[in-house]
Amino acid sequence: MKLLILNGPNLNMLGIREKHLYGAQTYEDLQLNILKRARELGLDVDIFQSNHEGELVDKIQSAYGEMDGIIINPAAYTHTSVAILDALKAVNLPAAEVHLTDISQREPFRQISYAGMACQAHFIGLGFEGYGKALEWMKENAAVSPAQ
Ligand code: DQA
Repeated sequence: MKLLILNGPNLNMLGIREKHLYGAQTYEDLQLNILKRARELGLDVDIFQSNHEGELVDKIQSAYGEMDGIIINPAAYTHTSVAILDALKAVNLPAAEVHLTDISQREPFRQISYAGMACQAHFIGLGFEGYGKALEWMKENAAVSPAQ
């Protein structure tokens, strides 16, 4: 099973940005953590981070016919991007939303998740473990696409 793991803007600043919210571990630590969990579960992952909405849209589109599912933390674009929502709907792959923090307990503008509307599973406020849970969910729930 091949999965696309997408991370949005400022997640590359983990370990530097708002440590009281996001912790002291870096983006590299997050990638290593995801790779380790994926290896344990026997999953192939392509991890991609961008600060640019269009690049995230392009990457979602490129998953069509190539990937078996998408795990996405759209970061700030969660709350603004209809383009990311539409891209997820367009490729129609199993999708899971991850947020390190519990956005339901934060500012009112974080209460809406556009991308989340196209996701079948949500792992919110679990820190790095949210990605691990999303990988487990994918293994259990996403069907492997037939060979191209
Ligand atoms: C975030 C939550 C978003 O509201 C915020 O803009 C982020 C990170 C999270 O993982 O908790 O950048 O997606």
